[in-house]
Amino acid sequence: MNAGLIGVGKYVPSQILTNADLEKRMDTSDEWIRTMTGIEERRIADDSMDTSDMAYNAAVEAIRHAGIKAEEIGLILVATVTPDRPFPSVSTMIQERLGAKNAAAMDISAACAGFMYGVVTAKQFVESGVYDYILVVGVEKLSKITDWEDRNTAVLFGDGAGAAIVGKVSEGRGILSFELGADGSGGKHLYQDKYLHMNGREVFKFAVRQMGESAVNVIEKAGLEKEDVDFLIPHQANIRIMEASRERLGLPVEKMSKTVHKYGNTSAASIPISLVDDLAEGRVKDDDILVMVGFGGGLTWGALCIKWGR
Ligand code: UT7
Repeated sequence: MNAGLIGVGKYVPSQILTNADLEKRMDTSDEWIRTMTGIEERRIADDSMDTSDMAYNAAVEAIRHAGIKAEEIGLILVATVTPDRPFPSVSTMIQERLGAKNAAAMDISAACAGFMYGVVTAKQFVESGVYDYILVVGVEKLSKITDWEDRNTAVLFGDGAGAAIVGKVSEGRGILSFELGADGSGGKHLYQDKYLHMNGREVFKFAVRQMGESAVNVIEKAGLEKEDVDFLIPHQANIRIMEASRERLGLPVEKMSKTVHKYGNTSAASIPISLVDDLAEGRVKDDDILVMVGFGGGLTWGALCIKWGR
């Protein structure tokens, strides 16, 4: 019996910050941002919308999509590096608001790979029969740790949330394989003190190598070939990194998810947000073989190979 994603949801704030808006605030250009990152605009949450509010909104949609009741959820996992406060956790905050009174709750800190870590953890509990349904949320309000004076990072990030319900799926479908990893020696390249700091070049090199390797590894672990992959959902950090992993798999452009242009890098939220748009716009269908792959601060990485459908 496999666990799979049986419902998904997303929330992005309505306020749009364009490259043209950023040109007015700092020494940058639309041309540089588009060429170097693929980003055209990003969403920014206002003061009334904290991380837990976005997580709640995405979770409500995922629960509805899965057709379950909040009381049936056994565990809530929220992947975020921008919680409302150090504790209580975002997961306990949304547990209360959702009325998920039978759920245990904890947050996961694995930066942009956090949603991958959450889904893989959920899979273990579902397949061992401990919980029937697990809510996994990837959510970030990166705007609150962004140094708006630092053009190296301020142009890259956005706010948003994506959520999934992990539960049992029919024979042959669901999560076929996964890979998780970490390399703490690279922690110095991407971290937060007051603000987020990044050595873009180092993270870029790591990302290109790791995204390709992890994608290939999960395909092999699933007993499949590159040619079997129908769709790739890479972490939406930078179009050049995404293109490198697509090329490594030999996939055509239309077989890769691309939302980085409209949401920027939303860290742990980027893969589930993209998945929701890909489903809504018909790019992901039942029985498709999907590869999802993320990387981020830590350094951390994670990948999944999934046969889509319930
Ligand atoms: O989710 C995981 C987190 N992070 C990432 O995935 C990011 C990974 N890294 C990257 O995507 C890339 O490293 C960046 C897009 C951030 C930067 O690209 P790069 O090819 O590594 O360029 P660079 O940092 O070496 O900067 C090139 C030039 C520099 O000018 P000089 O020193 O060559 O004169 C920068 O000062 O571009 C300059 N620059 C900018 N110019 C205009 C840096 N940021 C900006 C900016 N606007 N916003």
